[in-house]
Amino acid sequence: MTPPGPEKVPQHVAIIMDGNGRWAKQRGLPRLEGHRRGAENVRAVTDAARDLGIRYITLYAFSVENWKRPADEVSGLMGLLDFFLKRELNNFIRDKVRLHTIGRTDALPAGVQRELERVREATKHFTDWNLVLALNYGSRTEVADAAKAYATAVQEGREKLTDASWERFSRYLYSADLPDPDLLIRTSGEQRVSNFMLMQCAYVEMVFTPVLWPDFGKADLAAALKEFYGRERRFGLTTEQIKSGSA
Ligand code: FPP
Repeated sequence: MTPPGPEKVPQHVAIIMDGNGRWAKQRGLPRLEGHRRGAENVRAVTDAARDLGIRYITLYAFSVENWKRPADEVSGLMGLLDFFLKRELNNFIRDKVRLHTIGRTDALPAGVQRELERVREATKHFTDWNLVLALNYGSRTEVADAAKAYATAVQEGREKLTDASWERFSRYLYSADLPDPDLLIRTSGEQRVSNFMLMQCAYVEMVFTPVLWPDFGKADLAAALKEFYGRERRFGLTTEQIKSGSA
């Protein structure tokens, strides 16, 4: 395997953080304790990603489907998010990390929305390191929202149907300012994408690990990168074209 130069480090790693409930169950603890340990791990993994040179890390923290969980679990998750944002603001500023969100954040509790706005605003001038939280996120909702915004732009004459293309349409996705993920990791042994960044993951490499999210650490992230470095990304081309650099 070619040793990775800095140019091979994935620019954007997206993670489906799964297994908090099972982590808690294995220890006879309430599910929320698993989420609390999962939330603690967000800082550790964000720091590890920065150490490894990953510029964008996206974490699937709350899906549009997660509202259907028991009410006390939902409010517990919102409380953890609020606590996380309040606690991490100074660390983000110290480490020059910009916070982004994707998802329908306007449906989150008002207090969480205020914290998100405060942290996004305070970190918006940072460029090198980026943490993206997917909150009240679902790919199908994202496409529906983008289609509505695009159709409105056509109606108002800001877009022309004759110019329709993926490049123009994708500017209406929540992720318009973000590069596509290069690597998607899902923890806990599940092997599915669960309505996560389906449009942006068209050419993503996927790594599935049995490690439960609260236990996922820097060594596990490094192991996923090692697997990524062993992959040949062809983007529809042939191996020969990739090797000769002709395309
Ligand atoms: C999946 O585990 C995890 C979630 C649905 C929520 C992820 C949330 C956190 C890690 C904490 C809050 C986030 C931040 C950014 C502070 P699961 O509950 O589905 O686990 P299971 O499949 O083992 O039951």
